[in-house]
Amino acid sequence: MKRVFVRTFGCQMNVYDTGKMRALLAQDGYAPTDDMADADLVIVNTCSIREKPEQKLHSFLGEAFAIKRSADRLVTVAVAGCVAQQEGNKLLDRYPQLDLVFGPDAVPSIVSMVRAAQDQPVLDTTFLDADDYVFTSELDPDAKGAVGAFVTIQKGCDNKCTFCIVPTTRGTELSRPSAQILDEVRGLVAGGVREITLIGQNVNSYGLKVPGEKNFAALLYAVAAVPGVQRIRYTTSHPRDMGADVVQAYRDLPQLTSQLHLPVQSGSDAVLRRMKRFYTRDGYLRLVDQLMDARPDLALSTDIIVGFPGETDEDFEATLSLLETLRFHTSFSFKFSPRPGTPALKLLERDEAVAPEVAQARLVRFQDRQRVISLEQNRLLEGQVVEVLVEGPSRHDAGVICGRTGDFKMVNFPGDVAQTGSFAQVRVTRAFTNSLRGEPLRPWVAAPSPSASATA
Ligand code: SAH
Ligand code: SF4
Ligand code: F3S
Repeated sequence: MKRVFVRTFGCQMNVYDTGKMRALLAQDGYAPTDDMADADLVIVNTCSIREKPEQKLHSFLGEAFAIKRSADRLVTVAVAGCVAQQEGNKLLDRYPQLDLVFGPDAVPSIVSMVRAAQDQPVLDTTFLDADDYVFTSELDPDAKGAVGAFVTIQKGCDNKCTFCIVPTTRGTELSRPSAQILDEVRGLVAGGVREITLIGQNVNSYGLKVPGEKNFAALLYAVAAVPGVQRIRYTTSHPRDMGADVVQAYRDLPQLTSQLHLPVQSGSDAVLRRMKRFYTRDGYLRLVDQLMDARPDLALSTDIIVGFPGETDEDFEATLSLLETLRFHTSFSFKFSPRPGTPALKLLERDEAVAPEVAQARLVRFQDRQRVISLEQNRLLEGQVVEVLVEGPSRHDAGVICGRTGDFKMVNFPGDVAQTGSFAQVRVTRAFTNSLRGEPLRPWVAAPSPSASATA
C-alpha cells in the first residue's frame, strides 16, 4: 500500500480540499500517514492570504526534499492550493525536485496528475468554466468518526475587496448544486456527523447566479430539515450580503447555532471604503441589531485588519471603539499584508503605507483588549449550565473530554470518550480566554447497545 502525507495551511476551503484529495487517492490505493518520512506522496496544500502563511511553504519544501533525497523509494512531492495557483510554473522553475503543482480547480483529477508526475513535472492551474467544474462528493476517509464536518457550498469569490488574493487564487464564484450538498449532508449524518458547517468565501451569495437554485436562506432551511442534523454553522458571511431571510432563519431554526462569524475588517468608514467592502460602520451595527433581535444570545466573532494603507490613528480608534461597542467574543486580527496583484497595491504606490512599527503597535493594542473582552464574555458563563456536543478526549488531560457549546466555546470536563457524539449538560466552573472548564450535571450512563437490549 502506498502512503500519502498532506500538510494543510489556510482556511476551511483547504481543509475540505485536503479531505477530497485523501478520498480520491484512497481509491487509488493510498493510505494516509502522519509521518512525512514514511510517505510515497507528499502534498502541501498552501495558503497565500498573507505573506507569512506563504513563507511556510518554502520551509516545508526544504523538509520534503530532504526526505525525497534520502529515501530508498520514489517520493513524489506536490504543491496544491492558493500559492500553487498564484505562482504556477515559477514554483517548478525554482524547485527542480518538485513533481507536481496544481490549483484548487484541479483537485478532482489528482489521481491522474500524480500518475503523470512519476514521468515528468506536471502543472495544472487552469480555472474551469461553470459547466466543467466538478464538486467532488467523496468523503474524507480520515474524518471517519468525526462529530462535525465541513460541507462546501461554493467556490471562488466575486467580490473584490482590495486587500484580498482569494479572487485571484480561487477564481469566480460558483455555487454547488443544492441537491449535491444535501446528499453529502445525508451521507455525513448517516456516518455519525451531528454538526454541519457550510463553507464558502461569501456564503450569502450562494445560488444567486443560478436560475431556479435555492438561495442561502433556503439552503439553511433545507439542511435543517435533514433528519439527524443537530447543529448548523456556516462561514464566511459578508455583512453587505446578509439578507433579512437569513436573519429570519435565526428565529425559525433551532439547529442554527448561536454563533456567527461576521468579518468587519475595520470600524472606520474611510477604511471600509478603501477596502471596497460596501458597508458602513452604521450598516454593520444595524445588521447586528437585527440579528440580536432574532437571536438575543448570538455570540459574534470577526476578522480585523490593522494598518491598511492610509489607516490613521483616528481610523484605528474607530476599530477599537467598535470592539468596545460590540464586545466580540473572539476575533482574528492581522496586520495588512500586501498581496501580489491586489488593488490595495495602488494605495501603497501612493505612499499610503502604514509604518510597520505603527501597524504592530495597533495589532498589539487590539489583541490585548480583545483578550480581556473574550475572558469577560466567558466569565459570564461561570456557574451556568451549557449544552456541549462532545467531540472527543481533551488534548491535555486523561479522563477529560471536550466539545463545543452552540456558541462555539470549547468546554473541557471530566467524562468518558464513549460520550463522543452525544450532548452533555455541563456546569461551567471556570472561564479562560479561549475555553471553559466544567463539571457534567449528571454522570453519564452509556445507553445499552441494541444487542444487549434485545437479550434483556
Ligand atoms: N471571505 C472572507 C475572508 C477570507 S480571508 C470574508 O470576506 O470575510 C480571511 C481573513 O483574512 C479576512 O477576513 C481578512 O481579515 C484577512 N485578510 C485577507 N487578506 C489580507 C491581507 N492582504 N492582509 C491581512 N489580512 C488579510
Ligand atoms: Fe476576499 Fe472579500 Fe471575497 Fe472575502 S469577500 S474572499 S475578503 S474578496
Ligand atoms: Fe488561504 Fe486560499 Fe483559503 S489564500 S485563506 S487557502 S482561499
